[in-house]
Amino acid sequence: MKKVLVICSSYRKGGNSETLAQSFIVGAKEAGNEVEQIFLRDGEISFCRGCLACQAECVTSCVIDDYANTVSAAMNGADVIVFATPVYFYGMSGNLKTMLDRTNPLYGGDYKFTEVYLLAAAADDAPAAVDGTVKGIEGWVECFERSSLKGVVFAGGVTQKGEIAGREALSRAYELGKSLR
Ligand SMILES: Cc1cc2nc3c(=O)[nH]c(=O)nc-3n(C[C@H](O)[C@H](O)[C@H](O)COP(=O)(O)O)c2cc1C
Repeated sequence: MKKVLVICSSYRKGGNSETLAQSFIVGAKEAGNEVEQIFLRDGEISFCRGCLACQAECVTSCVIDDYANTVSAAMNGADVIVFATPVYFYGMSGNLKTMLDRTNPLYGGDYKFTEVYLLAAAADDAPAAVDGTVKGIEGWVECFERSSLKGVVFAGGVTQKGEIAGREALSRAYELGKSLR
């Protein structure tokens, strides 16, 4: 059994990336894993100020005392991290990027996670529409060298909320979740 943390970054409640996350969670739970879900919209997450106090003082929390510290702590103790994001201007959502910047206190520390997954939704149905988002997540994963990006589920061609219903990407997300053990 793994401790799985699913981080949903869209501000659109019940949107397409969140629906992908839901399918992943159903699969992961069915496989016997412990799943925690976090919504970045639930708290204030300020921009990283670049002070590097976290590195200088070797602390695992940021001097900015906001929701990012709660999210970072959950990430630190998870075996598996799943990012769910809409594609915004061919990259990840700004709030997910802001959160990733705020994980700098975990850099070089004793973080537990070794597996990272990405779930993404976009209006564009070209397979390459997710490339910029994958690249961005890969950049973060490279800095946490005990971890690797183990899988990506991309739902293209979904613009409006709910449009993802019945799409094959939901089955892929479910199967990926179910493969965790
Ligand atoms: C600010 C903004 C930027 C977007 N940029 C892109 C884009 O670059 N490419 C694309 O295919 N869709 C783009 N979209 C569409 C979303 O990716 C799409 O509606 C997605 O399903 C939203 O996921 P959500 O329901 O989880 O928020 C954009 C939407 C918004 C609001």
